[in-house]
Amino acid sequence: MSRPYYIAGNWKMHKTRAEAAELAKALVSQLKDGKHKYLAAPSFTLIETVAAIVKGTNIRLGAQDCAPETEGAHTGEVSVLQLKDLGVQTIILGHSERRHIYKEDDALINKKVKLALQHGFEVILCVGELLEEREAGKAEAVCETQTVKGLEGVAAKDLDRVVIAYEPVWAIGTGKTATPEDADAIHAFIRKVVGKLYGQEEADKILIQYGGSVKPDNAAQLMAKENIDGALVGGAALKADSFVPIAKFA
Ligand code: 13P
Repeated sequence: MSRPYYIAGNWKMHKTRAEAAELAKALVSQLKDGKHKYLAAPSFTLIETVAAIVKGTNIRLGAQDCAPETEGAHTGEVSVLQLKDLGVQTIILGHSERRHIYKEDDALINKKVKLALQHGFEVILCVGELLEEREAGKAEAVCETQTVKGLEGVAAKDLDRVVIAYEPVWAIGTGKTATPEDADAIHAFIRKVVGKLYGQEEADKILIQYGGSVKPDNAAQLMAKENIDGALVGGAALKADSFVPIAKFA
């Protein structure tokens, strides 16, 4: 089964509008001949600026989170309706920083996943184990639970708008990458979990990105693996000089 590659930049809580515009312009010009699927996901305050630059290009516009409700008394939250108004196409949900720093649980993440899909967005659902969970031999169990609970109630017809990102928490921002073999094994396992939920055909189709210290010098080895369909890039996504070589890995 050949699946397209999908390389996404999660800019996290970085950049001012001027810096975001500079990066977005560099990506648009340097990726215009890129062969894969691309995404830039800046902070909420930068979305309008970046939207104006990536509109009509091969770079999709992403957000890093959304509220679990469409509107109302939710101080500090941002709604899917507001994201849609800005032209956002994709929402990253369940990122490990949301799970572990802001204590989002699987039920809350699932609510956001369903709401985002209901409003027509593509969703990148992040899953991944902590170091102590890996060391305790629980990596697969953690990823299975997060995948199953994250997708609970998601209809098969919406699965073509779901991407899963496997981000082992111990590899995020640490410079430690999972070996391509270890990452591929978990990706294969997650694909099997999707197969149990939705059948083999859907499992073969779903894109599973790897995230965690992806850099220009390790991207190609990771992407060469059968079950790794792209990358969710943090630190290296903040500069065109490091994101573009990942996005154009050879
Ligand atoms: P790093 O690439 O900085 O390790 O971050 C990965 C990540 O969390 C992307 O969502």
